[in-house]
Amino acid sequence: MTGIVITGGAGFLGSRLARELLAAGPLAVAGGEPRPLRRLALVDQAPVPPDLAGHERVTAIEGDLGDLLAAGAEVLAGADVIFHLAAAVSGECEADFDLGMRANLRATELLLAACRALGTDPVVVYSSSLAVFGGSGDHPLPDVVEDHTLPNPQSSYGVQKFIGEQLLADYTRKGFLRGRAVRLPTVSVRPGRPNAAASGFLSGIIREPLAGQRAVCPVGAQTAAAIGSPARATAGLLCAATSSAQAWGGRSAVTLPALTVTVADMLAALERAAGPAARSLIDWVPDPEVARLVASWPARIRADRAARLGLAPDPDFGSVIRQYLAETR
Ligand SMILES: NC(=O)c1ccc[n+]([C@@H]2O[C@H](COP(=O)([O-])OP(=O)(O)OC[C@H]3O[C@@H](n4cnc5c(N)ncnc54)[C@H](O)[C@@H]3O)[C@@H](O)[C@H]2O)c1
Repeated sequence: MTGIVITGGAGFLGSRLARELLAAGPLAVAGGEPRPLRRLALVDQAPVPPDLAGHERVTAIEGDLGDLLAAGAEVLAGADVIFHLAAAVSGECEADFDLGMRANLRATELLLAACRALGTDPVVVYSSSLAVFGGSGDHPLPDVVEDHTLPNPQSSYGVQKFIGEQLLADYTRKGFLRGRAVRLPTVSVRPGRPNAAASGFLSGIIREPLAGQRAVCPVGAQTAAAIGSPARATAGLLCAATSSAQAWGGRSAVTLPALTVTVADMLAALERAAGPAARSLIDWVPDPEVARLVASWPARIRADRAARLGLAPDPDFGSVIRQYLAETR
């Protein structure tokens, strides 16, 4: 029997991952013998969605992750796999430096120490981000980011994620746990309400018009981005938990494959899916800070290591919109 903890388990990807784990059969942790899921603990400062909170195999633990771990709470009891997804998003970390350091760095340090204290060599899947990459005058961003590209984060969020990756790798090297860091692209289309991520408009310009509402686009139509659908994102996280050490291939982070699209491509796909009236609901209101952050992230990815693990990008943005419509209607 397998025990799993998801930090950020009430969030967008955490709750999606939880539903997939509950629906799936036995899980082959790190390529081992498949075993049924015994207990799924969802740790979040926000309430877990009712369908999950009421599930017989789910334990919802509500509170700040750092506070829970500092208090020695039994958050990780019996965990064979920990998916560490709790984090403040990019826009929040730029606006509130202390929040990002607390939620993304100190809570991660506490979590890794608690995983070590388990003494059971758990698998720890860490949700990193393409925001670890970036371009600066002394170190320009290459046109295409590859597995060996040097991270050069240009935001507090990106720095915190990169430090988390490095700590995870060192805990792994020391034999305290089995760390798997996954660099996610911007996940779109995110359902629900807008969030404070600088990339949030990459969902909003599709989600809001599909609901007949106006949406603001803060960047130009030719702005390019690396996108992954929610299903591809959780597939990457599950692959990290189930791959054998040999297949995973090392301690450095795996960059997930991503579809490169411009805002113009996305809006063309929106028009094909929902007609010109949907596309006309976009208000172009430039935001230089959002444009700066988005331009600092890579838009073109060559993810050879992920491809060897069987992971692939979404084929086109039309399929991403169809996935969103199928899941939300
Ligand atoms: N969604 C994306 O586009 C994307 C892209 C790259 C990386 N990621 C990473 O994937 C992970 C999940 O992203 P998401 O889109 O589901 O985010 P989300 O904001 O929907 O979920 C994160 C959850 O973490 C919780 N949380 C934050 N700080 C906490 C704390 N201190 N204690 C307890 N809970 C806390 C929040 O309440 C939230 O429910 C994050 O680590 C994020 O940085 C996401």
